[in-house]
Amino acid sequence: MKRQAILATLLSLSLSAVCAADLPAHHAHAPAHDGRALLELNPDERAMILEEMRLFLDGVQKISGALAKPDMVAVADSARGLGQKMAPEVPPALHAKLPLEFRQLGFSVHHDFDQIALDADSLKDVSHSLNQLSDTLQKCVSCHATYQIRTSIHGGNH
Ligand code: HEC
Repeated sequence: MKRQAILATLLSLSLSAVCAADLPAHHAHAPAHDGRALLELNPDERAMILEEMRLFLDGVQKISGALAKPDMVAVADSARGLGQKMAPEVPPALHAKLPLEFRQLGFSVHHDFDQIALDADSLKDVSHSLNQLSDTLQKCVSCHATYQIRTSIHGGNH
């Protein structure tokens, strides 16, 4: 019992030391800051971006499955689904919070998927499509390495 109490005290001391070092008190609920640039969004804006992300992952899974068969018609269909037409209409308030480089990277990923669709239709070359997919995934990797979303408890522009 005594050992547990000491352990708990040590734990809470080290936790509060970490929080005090990294975050102002009212952000203590936010994900730890890990060196990536922070996008300060409200919960709706975060949900909108993360929904687009899950569609990306879903589409990439479908494209890789179709490439393995290979079914180039399905590759083109899934890739087209992630192209410009899928890019969400970004509300002006969110647009203003996203850095130019972030928006350009997002735009270029949608553009890549349109190109993957066009080439899958015309060339029907699995290896070419895989190379394109790999180059595009590199952009996902690079954006994720650079940005993190932080949601303020105050909800931004609510
Ligand atoms: C322009 C920047 C950018 C690009 C490009 C991008 N992402 Fe993301 N993605 C993000 C950010 C920011 C987050 C939230 C990360 C955080 O807050 O820790 C995220 C989160 C995610 C998540 C988590 C979703 C959730 O519900 O939690 C998935 C999955 C994901 N991205 C997949 C992808 C895939 C696949 C691609 C490429 C096809 C991609 N993303 C391209 C910025 C980007």
